[in-house]
Amino acid sequence: MKRTYIKDLNELTSQEVTIKGWVNVRRDQGKMVFMDMRDMTGLVQCVVLPGSEAIETAKEMRTEWVLAVSGVVNKRPEKNIKAGAQNGDIELEVKNIEVLNKAEVLPFDISTDTKGVGEDMRLKYRYLDLRSDRMQKNIRARDKIISFFRDYMHQNDFVEIETPIMMKGTPEGSREYVVPSRLYQGKFYVLPQSPQQFKQLSMVAGFEKYFQIARCMRDEDSRGDRQPEFTQLDYEMSFVEQEDVLEYTEKMFIELVQTLYPNKKITTVPFPRFTFAETMEKYGMDKPDLRQDKNNPDELAFAWITDFPMFEKKDDGTIAAAHHPFCSIKPEDKEKFMKGEDLFSIRANSYDLVLNGFELSSGSIRIHDRAEQKQVFKLLNISEEEQQKKFGHMLEAFTYGAPPHGGFAPGIDRTVMLLQNEPNIREVIAYPKTGEGKDLMMGAPSEISDTQLRELGLTLNIKKK
Ligand code: AMO
Repeated sequence: MKRTYIKDLNELTSQEVTIKGWVNVRRDQGKMVFMDMRDMTGLVQCVVLPGSEAIETAKEMRTEWVLAVSGVVNKRPEKNIKAGAQNGDIELEVKNIEVLNKAEVLPFDISTDTKGVGEDMRLKYRYLDLRSDRMQKNIRARDKIISFFRDYMHQNDFVEIETPIMMKGTPEGSREYVVPSRLYQGKFYVLPQSPQQFKQLSMVAGFEKYFQIARCMRDEDSRGDRQPEFTQLDYEMSFVEQEDVLEYTEKMFIELVQTLYPNKKITTVPFPRFTFAETMEKYGMDKPDLRQDKNNPDELAFAWITDFPMFEKKDDGTIAAAHHPFCSIKPEDKEKFMKGEDLFSIRANSYDLVLNGFELSSGSIRIHDRAEQKQVFKLLNISEEEQQKKFGHMLEAFTYGAPPHGGFAPGIDRTVMLLQNEPNIREVIAYPKTGEGKDLMMGAPSEISDTQLRELGLTLNIKKK
């Protein structure tokens, strides 16, 4: 018989149907057996009556077995109705059970929210953890959020362009993951820390409005709001100024909340704005939590921080770009910039969006002039030779009619984490790495074979710790 989804049973009282899914809970009451069946659309109570030919199987089966259950949809007697619950007024009177697969006893209970289970265990058996109601909801909410963003971008004439995963490095301040080349031994691809250069080159290419749900890879220590692999809603626009990017983004986030999280309240609209200097002076930090009630996860306090410094001093005393080297300079600070004076007071046309104390996104209006870009590299002490080697393609692209452009890149993981009231981004990523960067389910990272090493022309020189 054709499979019926559990969500549709309500419409089918008195009819015979077959549902397929997992045994969520089973209650053996001696003569009768009750069980809740679960599929991707929900739960329904099934009852196997004493005379049913399915009673033997029903006695034998256990939770998480996979079944095809056929039976008749009955209205529940008045006293058994569970008001408000999905299918609370019906039950399936079972006529036949086909066991599609048995299941061992699971390593942990997935009928809870799994918050009390050790995280290593959850990540080793992620496919089981993901069966829990909370994780199903998180991953499905993530899909809805991504699909909202994608639709919003398309409605506003952005084009989604996939950019390479194997590329040459783009500096975003972290260590890069490298991929050895077999054909060109001794050479390496680098995984993108973000599609920054490609999105800018897509502006030179005349697309004017680019976006991508972009996977980014950074070899940095994991934290609650950081993963070595994460996702950005990356976008870039031509012929825009800072105000255009801020306005577009603010409207999009307000509409996202109104559409998908109508119960949440945005503290202040329009979002308050602070310069970097103002927020440091007022709050002593560049990502203040501006909620009226800091314990209320349903309050969303967005804020804009603008005018970040262009340069910063690293721990080793060397100079680095505070955001990245492609940010343009504020007109008021242009003179100092061209003269190379008082570098740490020079401000960029760069901006962050902050939400409840987290940096949700960063972006800037970019440089589109070759001489200006070269000046940034010079001030960063990047030699002419190094500039050509690393960024020759950008410098050259700027000589062929590069339009003024700017963009932004909200982190999808952080957005979903905050909207789903979760404490860290691992809860909203289907297959995350541990805090130590491991995939406990697959066992990555792992050794590769001697043959692979030989093909790649690599020998290992591992220092014992
Ligand atoms: P940035 O490096 O600030 O900017 O990143 C933008 C946003 O991406 C998210 N993010 C992360 N999320 C999870 N784990 C990480 N390790 C991680 N690192 C960053 C954050 C952050 O605000 N190319 C520029 C953007 C631009 O200039 O347009 C960039 O990547 O939410």
